[in-house]
Amino acid sequence: MKFGFFDDINKEYVITTPATPWPWINYLGNEDFFSLISNTAGGYAFYKDAKYRRLIRYRYNNVPMDNGGRYFYIKDGETIWSPGWKPVKTELDHYECRHGLSYTKITGAKEGLKAEVLFFVPLKSWCEIQKMTLHNTSSDIKKIKLFSFLEWCLWNAEDDQNNLQRNLNTGEVEIEGSTLYHKTEYRERRNHYAFYHVNAPVQGFDTDRESFVGLYNELSEPQAVLDGKPRNSHAHGWSPIASHYLEVELKPGEKKDLIFILGYVENPDDKKWESPKVINKKPARTLIQKYDSIQKVDRAFEALKDYWVALLDGFVLESGDEKLDRMVNIWNQYQCMVTFNLSRSASYFEVGIGRGMGFRDSNQDLIGFVHQIPERARERIIDIASTQFEDGGAYHQYQPLTKRGNDAIGGNFNDDPLWLILSTSEYIKETGDYSILDEMVPFDNDESLAKPHFEHLKASFYHVVNNLGPHGLPLIGRADWNDCLNLNCFSTDPNESFQTTGNKTGGKAESLMIAGLFVVYGREFVTLCRRIGKEQDAKEAQKYVDEMVEAVKHYGWDGEWFLRAYDYYGRKVGSKENEEGKIFIESQGWCGMAQIGKEEGLIEKALDSVKERLDCKYGIVLNNPAFTKYLIEYGEISSYPEGYKENAGIFCHNNPWIMIAETMIGRGEYAWNYYKKICPAYLEDISDLHRTEPYVYAQMIAGKDASKPGEAKNSWLTGTAAWNYYAVTRYILGIRPEYDGLRIDPCIPPDWKGFNVKRKLRGTTFYIKVENPKSVSKGVVKVVLDGKVIDQNLINTFDGGRHEVLVIMG
Ligand code: GLC
Ligand code: GLC
Repeated sequence: MKFGFFDDINKEYVITTPATPWPWINYLGNEDFFSLISNTAGGYAFYKDAKYRRLIRYRYNNVPMDNGGRYFYIKDGETIWSPGWKPVKTELDHYECRHGLSYTKITGAKEGLKAEVLFFVPLKSWCEIQKMTLHNTSSDIKKIKLFSFLEWCLWNAEDDQNNLQRNLNTGEVEIEGSTLYHKTEYRERRNHYAFYHVNAPVQGFDTDRESFVGLYNELSEPQAVLDGKPRNSHAHGWSPIASHYLEVELKPGEKKDLIFILGYVENPDDKKWESPKVINKKPARTLIQKYDSIQKVDRAFEALKDYWVALLDGFVLESGDEKLDRMVNIWNQYQCMVTFNLSRSASYFEVGIGRGMGFRDSNQDLIGFVHQIPERARERIIDIASTQFEDGGAYHQYQPLTKRGNDAIGGNFNDDPLWLILSTSEYIKETGDYSILDEMVPFDNDESLAKPHFEHLKASFYHVVNNLGPHGLPLIGRADWNDCLNLNCFSTDPNESFQTTGNKTGGKAESLMIAGLFVVYGREFVTLCRRIGKEQDAKEAQKYVDEMVEAVKHYGWDGEWFLRAYDYYGRKVGSKENEEGKIFIESQGWCGMAQIGKEEGLIEKALDSVKERLDCKYGIVLNNPAFTKYLIEYGEISSYPEGYKENAGIFCHNNPWIMIAETMIGRGEYAWNYYKKICPAYLEDISDLHRTEPYVYAQMIAGKDASKPGEAKNSWLTGTAAWNYYAVTRYILGIRPEYDGLRIDPCIPPDWKGFNVKRKLRGTTFYIKVENPKSVSKGVVKVVLDGKVIDQNLINTFDGGRHEVLVIMG
């Protein structure tokens, strides 16, 4: 069952019924100011950091679902309704929500009045614009009462929910004409405030929640709206809100526009006040002026659209499969921007207070984004590397506002360091910019410890070498990529976190996943050393990589697949000898991508085992059989019911590792089938089961052992976005930037006749036409560059021009 449709021309998903199986959201803003907005206008806004600079209060996991946002109430005679359906939930004559690229347009109509609201964050601006167009489609004069509404968060979203004994006293506002200012804590250590403005004279307002809503009313029935009368309240403490009241008259057929602006302002310390107790509103007025006419707002909106057109122009696919095209050309790239911006911090599943930017997560997110804005990717790599420790270890997370490592989470996840080699090498392959390796980057944010970025990669590499276990395999630490495989934790206390609790000492648990990862990015490190003339470094490093390959062959092969790990006691994890969790996906993916034992046929065997034991209708599950009981020596993974999350859920993030490994052994059909199973556009028809948005990936789909296989959770902020984009573009379509140029090496199902790709790389545009006359999966027999046959499938003409490339497979 569907709840809308894709509008590919406008690059929108159009939701046609408001009661979707879960709120289907979108993100506004691309740099400093961000908003989450659901299809019923729920959600919130924040500046840079969803924890420390939350502008709007939002109640997660509330009843009813998705409560709080930027709401409008229209009182037309006795009928009260909201254009986005919620919160009033009056049945609408017409409803539509168009989620586009960094904007959302919601339209509702009732009894001859149409209200359309366009929400977006203009480029380079710290505000959310809400352009409302009211249209009287009836033949009578309409006199309506319009109330806007949002509830302020007292900045620190965690404290906001915790510290009520203080919070209920601190709230402060100022009111000036049609602008309602929120200035809680401004008198003390804050230099920032927020405002909500409308570009028309108001006939009233409210800033105190209780006065507007009523103490025991729901947001669906604010007392002021029921009465059709604002209270003109001035908040002192309690819960400050911002609500404008406007009386609007519309002649038959008439249209009127209103511009609402939710803005954020910072003042220099010496310019905080206009006069005693009166905040300096100058920057707010300047911001308001920037968007005080429809022309200005429309221009800003056009600029945003142009921005996305340009961004998406770097990779354009024509495959003949509209679902594939819309994912590759629009939605997957879009999701990659969002994960790049927000890591795992704020979504409808991540509450924005627990997690900042993840070291491993953000490095991986970067590979789906680097072609869009390489300069921002570079900056991000430096930010991440700056939180690394001198021994190569890393804080697991850092706060976006301060860019400082998060002490509460700590470090010691032993896969973390290696992902820095991934992101850096992908950046160089995209840009050819080796200078990043010379950039001076601090360790642990201490400038006095700064060293060239290359030394960070070296520290990453040697962090593995210096932390090997009894089998010569990498020690796992708290956990590797799988946060829930806690082999050293031994937790009996339900009040402690599996990830952050101190490990039992003396543990020697080792990870085959890190081993494969090390071989892949260890080789990459060796290559980088060679390319910048560090031959000695390369030689030494190569030795360790070779040793790791041997260690995996000796101690990591279980007969039909790769082991997952050795536990604290040195016992096998992910082996046929185990009762449950006999096989895991991660080590098949990484040892597969590392091609360890390829000659001996190990990769094919391992991937066949994946197919046989882990594959199911909705994707590849993480492990099998699922754990049916809590195993103290395995930790959180065995805490989940079977089929969910890391316990045999389809953890979409790791599925593309298998796809890539499949393409490396030439099995295009397998890779493609795996791709389609988890790719949201192909799941649109089962949205009622899948539940999350059909335009973005979810982290997890319930696996074959779950009570409801196929049901997804945790959409948007997941490494799945970057890895699937990477798998489909670099390995299935095979359009792959390498240090020396653009490699074209597709691995597709044999029945594909071919496809076209436009790919920009290093300022040069390639129009690539792939033909598959012999119905093969892999193999290129002829490459024609601008009409001339060349003898390789690597294109290295970077002259800033346009080139045509014909690739014949066979
Ligand atoms: C989550 C985390 C990621 C981790 C994965 C598997 O997606 O963000 O860091 O690798 O779970 O546990
Ligand atoms: C939970 C989640 C996992 C995530 C981890 C880190 O264990 O299951 O996916 O990576 O938390 O916060």
